[in-house]
Amino acid sequence: MIKKGIILAGGHGTRMSPLTKAVNKQLLPIYDKPLIYYPLSVLMLAGIKNILIIVNKGQLPQFKKILQDGKRFGIKISYAEQLKPKGLPDAFILGEKFIKNDKVALILGDNFFYGQSLTKNLKECVKLNSGCKILVHPVNKPEHFGIAKINVNRKITSIKEKPKNSKSNLAITGLYFFDNSVIKMSKSLKPSKRNELEIVDLLNRYRKKNKLKAEFLGRGGAWLDTGSIEDFHNTSSFVSALENRQGFKIACLEEIALNYNWINKNGIKKAINFYGNCIYSNYLKKLIK
Ligand code: DAU
Repeated sequence: MIKKGIILAGGHGTRMSPLTKAVNKQLLPIYDKPLIYYPLSVLMLAGIKNILIIVNKGQLPQFKKILQDGKRFGIKISYAEQLKPKGLPDAFILGEKFIKNDKVALILGDNFFYGQSLTKNLKECVKLNSGCKILVHPVNKPEHFGIAKINVNRKITSIKEKPKNSKSNLAITGLYFFDNSVIKMSKSLKPSKRNELEIVDLLNRYRKKNKLKAEFLGRGGAWLDTGSIEDFHNTSSFVSALENRQGFKIACLEEIALNYNWINKNGIKKAINFYGNCIYSNYLKKLIK
């Protein structure tokens, strides 16, 4: 069972300047919460309570101000700094001391997941014994994502980063589950032409050893990556439409913790105190009525 998770929440966010000049992208709002709440909710839904958040140099205080040490959500959050964006597999090198001898999940700080079968998918993924599991989902623009090709037996036959003319539209989402050899494998990767360690190189190593498996998010699942201002806007609209229509919140971390019995009513009261008088607190109040 995977019990540890990493959120990679650094990067320059250059595509979203000037919004990201002073504030890390993952702290910008998706409708009514900072973006980081959404990937954090995914790890929590998977049952993962021990989480390392990797942020840019100098940005730790802002993240700590909102997420603290995780007790508010009944989990443990620790932090590490990435001095410059060296690529996604750098998470496992920076996170070596956190991972120790365990398996680990990685979620990119700008990924948004939603859907009825999501928790079921996640619970399946954390059962990983060995190798690597990725979550895949079809997209319209394969040239913007890591893309997997699969054969009739749903076995992955190739993986490419942002291919120009791909026949496959099966994107690799920013959620990955690895056994402990990920540390050693990441250390042995060579930087690519763009001078980054590439996640596709890491995944291809697992694939070549026959140790890469895919879980399909399914048609009822939504996966959005918030790489651009337009994506932020669209994802915010999606959350707003669902929350206002149905009356429940997506990625309310305290609600997940309460449902999993990681915190009690008293914990919710403390959270209300933390947030102060706001719509989010009003929602929390309703949970314990
Ligand atoms: O969202 C899924 C896609 O994410 C995958 O399909 C691709 O295979 C994968 O490479 C990645 O592509 P992106 O172009 O979206 O990656 P990006 O460089 O934008 O980084 C994603 C997030 O990770 C972003 O929030 C910034 C953070 N990051 C990135 C790098 C390279 C870091 O914190 N540190 C880093 O060194």
